[in-house]
Amino acid sequence: MILEKEFEDLFLNVSSRAALSSYRYVGKNDKKAADKAAVDSMRDQLNKINIKGEIVIGEGELDEAPMLYIGEKVGTNKGPELDIAVDPLEGTNFAANNLPGALAVIAVSKKSHLFKAPETYMDKISVNFSEPNVVDLDFSTKKNIFNLAEFKNKKPNELTACILDRPRHKKIIEELKRLNVKIKLISDGDISGALLVTDPKYCVDIFLGIGGGPEGVLAASALDAFGCNFQCKFLFETKKDIERAKLMGIDDLNKKYQLNEIVSGDSIFCATGVTTGDLVSGIVIEGNEFISETLITHKSTGLKKLVKTKQII
Ligand code: FBP
Repeated sequence: MILEKEFEDLFLNVSSRAALSSYRYVGKNDKKAADKAAVDSMRDQLNKINIKGEIVIGEGELDEAPMLYIGEKVGTNKGPELDIAVDPLEGTNFAANNLPGALAVIAVSKKSHLFKAPETYMDKISVNFSEPNVVDLDFSTKKNIFNLAEFKNKKPNELTACILDRPRHKKIIEELKRLNVKIKLISDGDISGALLVTDPKYCVDIFLGIGGGPEGVLAASALDAFGCNFQCKFLFETKKDIERAKLMGIDDLNKKYQLNEIVSGDSIFCATGVTTGDLVSGIVIEGNEFISETLITHKSTGLKKLVKTKQII
């Protein structure tokens, strides 16, 4: 199920407009307002596109998010049926505090080809090659690092691991230190963290640890286009999480998912910078125009590049 090429520009426009909307709230210490601006913009832009779209990853469910909730229909209701995953503002703290790395993110596929993920935590791992059994979510940190070092013909102390700086990662971080691995600790933004394995210029060999489930599905779309490996497990903490998961059709709560079970087929991914970070530059305003930078991937056409656009505000 191939996505038509024309969608590349259309979705790039959606993410860049959302980034512009959030940019107005950068440094205003109001992450809700920054997020809402991106959500409203994404919804308006999506509703102009000739698609029968359904939000499969969104801002929550109808009871907790008035817009872009999981299950919401978007588009003009003419055209192909698409699954749409959004994180209109990834790194709300970054935007609120004018820190590097805030992004507007969207991924799309034909209907039923993106995983409809509940809003829970997810244990994830990614590396920049598709060879199986080198790293695995079920292996210990030590085994993953030793296998990775052997596979890359490097020593553990020449490897860099990216992980969210959270108390829940204490054990992994201590083990990485013991192994003398270089640690890139990120305070937020694990879509970007996971994607740092895609290009040697970022100097990250492995991304691992627990972050948001929605962020994992979005990152998986781009990782797929880059031919990277990604595995994940959803973590259900509360009874409510478990009930929601079951309603979404997840029966095996401990299942380890492979990349092609999360994104099965063609997808387009766009991440536009709100503030400049590792992955992309942030919005720049020039008079009545804005410049944005987007990492766009489209698996079936092989598109994987940073695109700068200048548009009228
Ligand atoms: P928000 O943009 O929604 O604030 O999420 C930022 C983020 O760092 C994600 O990148 C990550 O997946 C998640 O939060 C981690 O959650 P937590 O902060 O609860 O550990």
